[in-house]
Amino acid sequence: MTRIFSLSNQKGGVGKTTTTVNVATALAALRKKVLIIDLDPQGNATVSLGVQRRQGGQNSYTVLTGRYKVSESVVQTNIPFLYVLPASQELLGVDLELAGVEKPQFFLKNALSDVSDFDYIFIDCPPAVGLLTLNALVASTSVIIPVQCEYLALEGVADLMKTIEKVKKNFNPSLKIDGIVMTMFDGRSRLSRSVDNDVRSFFKDLVYDTVIPRNVRIPEAPSHGKPVMLYDFRSTGAQSYIRLAGEILNREKGENHG
Ligand SMILES: Nc1ncnc2c1ncn2[C@@H]1O[C@H](COP(=O)(O)OP(=O)(O)OP(=O)(O)O)[C@@H](O)[C@H]1O
Ligand SMILES: [Mg+2]
Repeated sequence: MTRIFSLSNQKGGVGKTTTTVNVATALAALRKKVLIIDLDPQGNATVSLGVQRRQGGQNSYTVLTGRYKVSESVVQTNIPFLYVLPASQELLGVDLELAGVEKPQFFLKNALSDVSDFDYIFIDCPPAVGLLTLNALVASTSVIIPVQCEYLALEGVADLMKTIEKVKKNFNPSLKIDGIVMTMFDGRSRLSRSVDNDVRSFFKDLVYDTVIPRNVRIPEAPSHGKPVMLYDFRSTGAQSYIRLAGEILNREKGENHG
């Protein structure tokens, strides 16, 4: 069965896209067939993978609104086993466009019933809790929440958790939070350490052991159209995302046995 992860946090710039691209790449390196769905009009995940954003034609917007099938719209990246459904700026219009239709939360889920050959699907959500994020949560098996090790880190996370609860109750009973990943950690900063501590003492085991450090290779990589793992495999950024992917796989095993 395909596992579908939403990377979500309504706060902007916390590492959703970076985590999507790099965890997906780490799993593809293990020969898992992986699809990234770029559901953010900004299209950062698409561009980070060296793929063009697409106006018109096949993209996550035209798939979401039922004009094209997922299977005919995915693009193979330069990385074996890794595919992307590119974003389009037209996604900006989704909230208005689907507002009047029946069950607007189910469009992505319905679209995904067309594909069954991926081991994992990662959905990169925009920094907002609109219809795009709602569609992602309804279509997902799990949510991964990146939290930046900064002041006001948890701003918005409580709202996101309420949204997840509502989605569970009304549309997707088996939805679960896989985990919270602490990003952009700076070991020399007292603030960074204290935010990490606070979030761990509050959310306990929900927080992955792996912390993603601040690392300059991470923001450099997208301008080369590459995940950091391909840009600089030995960097702390690449290595920490490989560990995080391992942890995500382990949580899945734990689930299957328990
Ligand atoms: N560990 C890190 N070290 C240094 N820079 C990072 C790290 N993680 C992410 N960044 C940089 O921080 C910025 C924001 O990251 P990213 O785009 O992944 O966040 P996001 O949550 O997807 O943002 P948005 O809400 O706009 O979609 C990017 O420029 C990215 O390259
Ligand atoms: Mg993003």
